[in-house]
Amino acid sequence: MSDPILTLKGVKTDIAQYHILHGVDLEVPRGGVTMLLGRNGAGKTTTLRTIMGLWKPHAGEILLDGAHIHGLPPAQIARRGIGFVPEDMGIFSDLTVEENIRLAALSGQPIPERLDWIFTAFPALKTFWKSAAGTLSGGQKQMLSVARAVVEDREFLSDRRALQGPRARHRGDAGRALKDLKNRGASILMVEQNFSLAQARWAIMSR
Ligand SMILES: Nc1ncnc2c1ncn2[C@@H]1O[C@H](COP(=O)(O)OP(=O)(O)O)[C@@H](O)[C@H]1O
Ligand SMILES: [Mg+2]
Repeated sequence: MSDPILTLKGVKTDIAQYHILHGVDLEVPRGGVTMLLGRNGAGKTTTLRTIMGLWKPHAGEILLDGAHIHGLPPAQIARRGIGFVPEDMGIFSDLTVEENIRLAALSGQPIPERLDWIFTAFPALKTFWKSAAGTLSGGQKQMLSVARAVVEDREFLSDRRALQGPRARHRGDAGRALKDLKNRGASILMVEQNFSLAQARWAIMSR
């Protein structure tokens, strides 16, 4: 077994006067699929936001690829190679799909091969390339949020159940895209509330 890509050791995070994380230990295997399971309010969002530097832990360590990242500003943590899908998707409604994607790429322009892959994985994004993101359907917005996170070769962290949504077709697209992403070598950490759903999703992606 190689070293984990991401390690949390005894991570404690307070929000205002509340102790939210009481010492989280977590190892995310390199190139694997990891589901963070917990009921509503269990601390999944706080854990992911702490990894991304959006909350500062007051104790513990966070290592990405062997290097300490706790205490770094969020932009620096992202630049070290983590694509993050926040709980609210974090897309810019007034900007076009194209602008949303370009802003998510460090260089301002994803490489053509990557963009082709994104269009294959999420055809709707190609169709609505020049449309304002706010005009997309819920499922399409979710695709855009995933596409923004994976626009470059990065590890993938999702605070949304990335296969959620009312339409089976969209869930299928997202599931295939994440499996593809894993086959390209990315490590995946995503949240889930329901154990059997998590198991089913994990099985699909791990095959
Ligand atoms: N901004 C905040 N202010 C106060 N309490 C918060 C805040 N964000 C989260 N919490 C509390 O932290 C706990 C964990 O929340 P969260 O990390 O969002 O859980 P999950 O994502 O697993 O549903 C909950 O009790 C929640 O009420
Ligand atoms: Mg949450």
